[in-house]
Amino acid sequence: MPIRSLIAGCGSYLPERSLSNVELAQAYGLDTSDEWIVERTGIHNRHIAAPDETASTLGANAARAALARAGMRADEIDLIVVATATPDSAFPSTAVRIQALLGSTRGFGFDISAACTGFVYALNVADNFIRSGQVKTALVIGAEVFSRIVDWTDRGTCVLFGDGAGAVVLRAGEGEGTAADRGILSTHLHADGSFGDLLFVDGGAGSNGTAGKLRMTGNAVFRHAVSKLADVVDEALAANGLGHSDVRWLVPHQANRRIIDAMGRKLKLPPERVVVTVDRHANTSAASIPLALAEAAGDGRIQPGDLVVMEAIGGGLTWGATLARF
Ligand code: COA
Repeated sequence: MPIRSLIAGCGSYLPERSLSNVELAQAYGLDTSDEWIVERTGIHNRHIAAPDETASTLGANAARAALARAGMRADEIDLIVVATATPDSAFPSTAVRIQALLGSTRGFGFDISAACTGFVYALNVADNFIRSGQVKTALVIGAEVFSRIVDWTDRGTCVLFGDGAGAVVLRAGEGEGTAADRGILSTHLHADGSFGDLLFVDGGAGSNGTAGKLRMTGNAVFRHAVSKLADVVDEALAANGLGHSDVRWLVPHQANRRIIDAMGRKLKLPPERVVVTVDRHANTSAASIPLALAEAAGDGRIQPGDLVVMEAIGGGLTWGATLARF
């Protein structure tokens, strides 16, 4: 019986302050409109972190919610992997800051940098630690404070992003009767660094000492997203001998409603089988998939046995897809 990473619980956290398109345009004096933003992106609102909130505090809140759903304590977690492009600082990692906020000294943790694909990358890393037998439990967290890195004078990017965090508790399913069928089936990751200048931060916590801002060539990223996401989802299904009709839920990265709808059509899924949060959360980068997952698992849409496809693309370019059975 192979070891599988079972999804034991999902949780999320959103900052209290919600900002509508109209409020955003007014607050930053932007030449934009609610109509333009809704028509091109499907975004109506986004949440904005309070001054004292950071990726680690958002992530810790999401982790507490996921642990509660799983019925587990923080000191039962062997590994914490955090996907973030907005860490509190270069180090300590967001993961160990969260470990401390949760009051645990057990195990180990580190951050993953893969921009909006970060959660899919982090899930794959944690899954491999579990499959190898090195850990039995893992917290996989996506936590982002993009409000701190967007250029609030650039209407082409600042309207697209929001803050939030989502978390998933993984547990080794060794020896369980249904473990071969449930849990993370496989993850498929890609990167092509030659497209790095399409979506990047021009400074930041790295070595050049400047606080960077997000820069994007949106229409080029859009074209890559539609083709690369379709390809990687087909790759994931083929690797498991599954077809479009086996998919119960699409939980996509929430960047743009038009990209999400295109992927739903590609999988021939009715709209109610596609989990959408971009309208209320905007693009929360690595946090968007676990936020959407927590919502659909929490309100009872995703049921045990359901096959879920997660897919994302982001700066790098990086992209990937995960198939999981709840
Ligand atoms: N309000 C009003 N007009 C805006 C605007 C805004 N918020 N943002 C851009 N525009 C204008 C541009 O200035 C441009 O005007 P011009 O034709 O006079 O130069 C026009 O709208 C078209 O710009 P373009 O960038 O070609 O628009 P688009 O149809 O590609 O839509 C995005 C822009 C960003 C919504 C779209 O490209 C997109 O969603 N891309 C993918 C982004 C993404 O998902 N990134 C994250 C991946 S993880």
